[in-house]
Amino acid sequence: MNKTIFITGGAGFIGSHVVREFVNKYPDYHIVNVDALTYAGNLENLRDVERKSNYSFVKQDIRDAAGVSALFEKHQPDGVIHLAAESHVDRSIVAPTDFVLTNVLGTVNLLNAARETWKDKPEGKRFHHVSTDEVYGTLGETGLFTEDTPYDPHSPYSASKASSDHFVRAYQDTYDLPVVITNCSNNYGPNHFPEKLIPLCILNVLNEKPLPIYGDGKYTRDWLFVVDHARAIDLVFHQGKNGESYNIGGFNEWQNIDLVKELCKQMDEKLGRASGTAEKLITYVKDRPGHDLRYAIDATKINTELGYTPSVTFEEGLSHTIDWFLNNRQWLENVASGDYQHYYEEQYGE
Ligand code: NAD
Ligand code: DAU
Repeated sequence: MNKTIFITGGAGFIGSHVVREFVNKYPDYHIVNVDALTYAGNLENLRDVERKSNYSFVKQDIRDAAGVSALFEKHQPDGVIHLAAESHVDRSIVAPTDFVLTNVLGTVNLLNAARETWKDKPEGKRFHHVSTDEVYGTLGETGLFTEDTPYDPHSPYSASKASSDHFVRAYQDTYDLPVVITNCSNNYGPNHFPEKLIPLCILNVLNEKPLPIYGDGKYTRDWLFVVDHARAIDLVFHQGKNGESYNIGGFNEWQNIDLVKELCKQMDEKLGRASGTAEKLITYVKDRPGHDLRYAIDATKINTELGYTPSVTFEEGLSHTIDWFLNNRQWLENVASGDYQHYYEEQYGE
């Protein structure tokens, strides 16, 4: 093994795809998945790679500074790809402090441990912080987020991610820690936890339950297939420049209502139901407080500097995603039981 790489949050939605990409592509790396296994972490996401000799899992909460330091001391990682986070905006509105503790304090704990471990030999080391386009706040009807767009977060989730981005940059400026940041748009794909719009709608179409659309449904998001995010992380981790940020997106904007109608159309076809059946489930509900109108990424920098382009269209990616959920009903049932039922009732109950 010529390198040890920590991937934090590797049992989550995006993290599991990043782990898979790295384990399969880099047999010479030792990939250590560092994850606390919260409600969003699920080792079932990694059944296909868990027996590979270059993969290991460590259960570790990044809020625990001493535990994090001991882990760095033991493994002496050469790189960190940091995805562990509380990731759901609606949950951040209900419990903001959880987001400060994991997303801000947890990130600072990792930065401190990396700084200590790499202080004598920072060359060839890299701390890659995986962040979001939500740090830029909201766009109006036009325009795109570039890497120079000023930060203007509105939700407790995006405020916590913005804060963590600032800490990462501060460690580069103050301590010369070698860092890169990526800010990505909305992901979708296999293993997506059904609290988020797309998997929630897939689950509810299957169960013939209402498809809750916040406000007027005209809010716009820029969607990227999760495997394409993992590919972009690989590219930036290996070829990005220290101290730089890279936006990741697919130039693929959809108003929520149009996206849900496309999902309904595809699901009716796949389930052999009459056209229009799923759309009847669409239900407009109370809006999300502080709801950002529109996100859209200008991905020119990663495209021109690193040659990155997404590999699938949205329609293809969505079709693949729905097929995955239809073929993995047990996964869906497992994650949508227990705590999830309680969350669902609190969020969407009368
Ligand atoms: P997720 O909620 O599916 O997974 C988060 C993972 O982090 C889980 O495995 C969980 O167990 C782990 N985790 C949470 N708290 C932890 C703690 N205190 N210690 C250790 N592990 C902990 O999230 P996701 O959607 O896969 O997002 C991963 C990262 O990518 C996050 O940093 C998120 O901000 C960022 N991001 C997400 C999207 C998106 O569309 N989902 C887009 C851009 C950026
Ligand atoms: O932009 C990147 C961000 O995308 C990531 O940083 C976050 O971790 C990720 O959760 C995602 O945030 P969003 O809030 O955009 O995703 P979500 O799937 O929760 O919502 C997408 C849009 O759909 C948003 O406008 C809110 C709306 N929505 C969501 C839910 C859950 C609904 O209308 N109804 C719903 O029930």
